[in-house]
Amino acid sequence: MLYSDLYANSLKVFANQNKTLEIQVLIEAAFNLSRAEYWIKKNEPITDLAALRTFYRYRNRLLKDEPIAYMLKKKEFYGEVFFINKSVLIPRPETEILVEKALELIEKPIQILDIGAGSGIIGILLAKRTGSGVTAVERSKKAMYVLKKNIVLHGVGDRVIPVCRDFFSMRSGKFDMIVSNPPYVSEGEWGELEVTVRDYEPKAALVGGKDGTGVIRGIVAGASGFLKPGGWLLMEIGYNQEERVHGFLKRAGFREIAFSEDYSRIPRVTVGRI
Ligand SMILES: C[S@@+](CC[C@H](N)C(=O)[O-])C[C@H]1O[C@@H](n2cnc3c(N)ncnc32)[C@H](O)[C@@H]1O
Repeated sequence: MLYSDLYANSLKVFANQNKTLEIQVLIEAAFNLSRAEYWIKKNEPITDLAALRTFYRYRNRLLKDEPIAYMLKKKEFYGEVFFINKSVLIPRPETEILVEKALELIEKPIQILDIGAGSGIIGILLAKRTGSGVTAVERSKKAMYVLKKNIVLHGVGDRVIPVCRDFFSMRSGKFDMIVSNPPYVSEGEWGELEVTVRDYEPKAALVGGKDGTGVIRGIVAGASGFLKPGGWLLMEIGYNQEERVHGFLKRAGFREIAFSEDYSRIPRVTVGRI
């Protein structure tokens, strides 16, 4: 069998679903080929049977809708590769907007609090790009393992402190900026999410209470106690939460409140200053 046969046959397995990119990526991963190497070898016969078995295992998992990021245990975010597993959310492109906004505001190394750090993508990137110090708070012990691994992989152990605790039990700390991509999906929305999300990603990382804004509301209410005067709060929010979040921020005394839209023109990231 040629590599191109494996590709074509695999597409047929998925009948009505378009899995071209996934199949391509999984063949490359199983046979340890770059995209360019695949194109050079595509009309050669497959001889590595162990790699072929690995590919079939991946393909079976894809048939069960498992995201390939969990199979390969990695995901690219803002031009960098992060280790991930099923204990953490798969990094989303929307979160890159939050990182971009933070980078625009940071002019010199500052002190940052990352609430709900998960795999650490936000805090680690900001530490790496700006030299800032980051306290990365995450309540899940399993996610903490991923966070610590990424801190080492990205060489920011001197700047990013992982803290395994619930943000709402934190009592002290003063920061120039708080960043957070909190759980913001409502209980109702959870039931309607795609199978790839609902069956594989950690529910506790996504669901923010009955109406989705429970954690956001708590963070906004507590944030001012952790910010220096003039400090910034940046948060990712749900698709229908702009008005409510604006209200929370106003009531908590934030000013210069602004929202940035995502690629679907949905207000997705909010910024406020205390
Ligand atoms: C939506 S995920 C975001 C993870 C990561 N920051 C990212 O952007 O991919 C939210 C994370 O917040 C954590 N979390 C939720 N509530 C928390 C709390 N009260 N204190 C600390 N972490 C919390 C969850 O365990 C989860 O890892």
